[in-house]
Amino acid sequence: MSRVIAVSNQKGGVGKTTTVISLGAALAEKGLRVVLVDLDPQAALTAGAGLDPYKLQGTTYDLLMDDRVRFTEILRPVHGNLLLAPASVDLASADYALARRANRALRLDQTLANELDAVDFVLIDTPPSLGLLTVNGLTAAGEVLIPVECHYLAMRGVRALLETIWLIHDRLQPNLRVLGLLPTRYQSNSAHGRQVVNDLRAVFKKRVFETAIPMDEALAEAPAVRQTILAYRSESPAAAAYRRLSDEIMRSKPQ
Ligand SMILES: Nc1ncnc2c1ncn2[C@@H]1O[C@H](COP(=O)(O)OP(=O)(O)OP(=O)(O)O)[C@@H](O)[C@H]1O
Ligand SMILES: [Mg+2]
Repeated sequence: MSRVIAVSNQKGGVGKTTTVISLGAALAEKGLRVVLVDLDPQAALTAGAGLDPYKLQGTTYDLLMDDRVRFTEILRPVHGNLLLAPASVDLASADYALARRANRALRLDQTLANELDAVDFVLIDTPPSLGLLTVNGLTAAGEVLIPVECHYLAMRGVRALLETIWLIHDRLQPNLRVLGLLPTRYQSNSAHGRQVVNDLRAVFKKRVFETAIPMDEALAEAPAVRQTILAYRSESPAAAAYRRLSDEIMRSKPQ
């Protein structure tokens, strides 16, 4: 059975896209079949895979807006058994266009149904907002992974996100659960960073992953050369951290 994980946080720049590509690459490295879904109009995931979001045909926009388009039709190879459902810049208008549609919150969920036989993991990258694109990502998912920057302001938004997740759980997707909170941009030599992780663990307990993703410049460089961190700097601290995260996720039971 495939596991569908939405990577979400309405705060910008916390490592959502970086986590989708790097965790996806780490799972694919283990031989698993992984599909990344770009639901962000910024299309950073798509651009990082070397595709041009201004020119693309066959994207998540088409998937959301056109009932005839099937999920498997829009997939593109990234590397080995890692595939991408790319975004185009059109997605920026989808929030508005979807608002007038029936089942607007369940469009992605409906298109994924019965299409995931040959896939082990689907990782969905969502934009930094709690609008309809993010809601579509969450309703299509069974699990949510929440990257949290190791900065004290970052914790403040987590509660609003959890409230949205509970609401979706109650009204739209009773199977949705929080897979975990992932500390990102962690600096072990910073007392402040350590304090934030301690606070996160005090509040959210076992919901916080054991793995923290360290601050590592190689993560910022990798998309510029169109590579995953595992290919670009296989021995880097960040690559090691994403491999450990993939181990943790594989040990955790899907519902
Ligand atoms: N652990 C890290 N160490 C160093 N740089 C990082 C790390 N994680 C992410 N970055 C860099 O920080 C920037 C923001 O990361 P990313 O794009 O993954 O965040 P995001 O949450 O997807 O942002 P947005 O909300 O805009 O979609 C990128 O330039 C990325 O390369
Ligand atoms: Mg992003």
